Amino acid sequence: MLNVVIFGPPGSGKGTQSEKIIERFGLEHISTGEILRTEIKSNSDLGKIAASFIDRGELVPDHIIVGMLENKLNVLGAVKGVIFDGFPRTIEQACALKMLLHKREEDIDVMINLEVDNAEITERLLKRGETSGRSDDNLETIEKRIRVYECQTAPVIDFYKKEGTYRGIDGQGTVDEIFERISAVIEVCMV
Ligand code: AP5
Repeated sequence: MLNVVIFGPPGSGKGTQSEKIIERFGLEHISTGEILRTEIKSNSDLGKIAASFIDRGELVPDHIIVGMLENKLNVLGAVKGVIFDGFPRTIEQACALKMLLHKREEDIDVMINLEVDNAEITERLLKRGETSGRSDDNLETIEKRIRVYECQTAPVIDFYKKEGTYRGIDGQGTVDEIFERISAVIEVCMV
């Protein structure tokens, strides 16, 4: 069993790298952003609530996100491990994840932080916004997402440093170069 948190600011490449990790290591992917966007598309009650936060670049409240994650873990069959993408995003979420995994006699094996500077992530997200149709990929909301990341999410780094599972990775370069850096970290964890 290998549980990985892929972490970093908006646009740091969490989703892009998760796809490659799944392919190479066969892990299950849980992306809270993707789950929320699916709920929004289906116009569910949860989707309506989530949209109001996402469109403003704010975090969806912890109790909603933690409940959603718990439901997802409850229906998880036998898997080789999970890559958590976009979760946890607050200290409260990190504590809740630890508790939920402990019930399964598991823990997070490694937290991989993709380090990318603000100019690069802004450029990436503005470019994606031209074609993605994502309501939060516009300059005003991107700047808000970065501020929210710095205030509410970056403190999660210290949580995993204290746990001894933190690994910082240079998240700039080509997608393949970054993936090789990530793979080297995961391979060490699998030994
Ligand atoms: P979420 O979907 O998690 O968005 P995010 O964290 O802002 O991250 P992104 O999906 O924008 O970027 P990414 O890091 O995955 O990068 P990607 O690979 O796509 O969350 C959206 C919203 O949902 C949040 O703002 C919040 O409101 C809510 N939410 C979600 N989870 C929550 C939680 N746990 N608690 C509370 N609220 C929550 O890459 C970005 C772009 O860059 C792509 O176009 C890609 O092709 C390109 N790219 C990737 N790598 C490279 C590279 N090396 N070089 C050049 N371009 C690259």
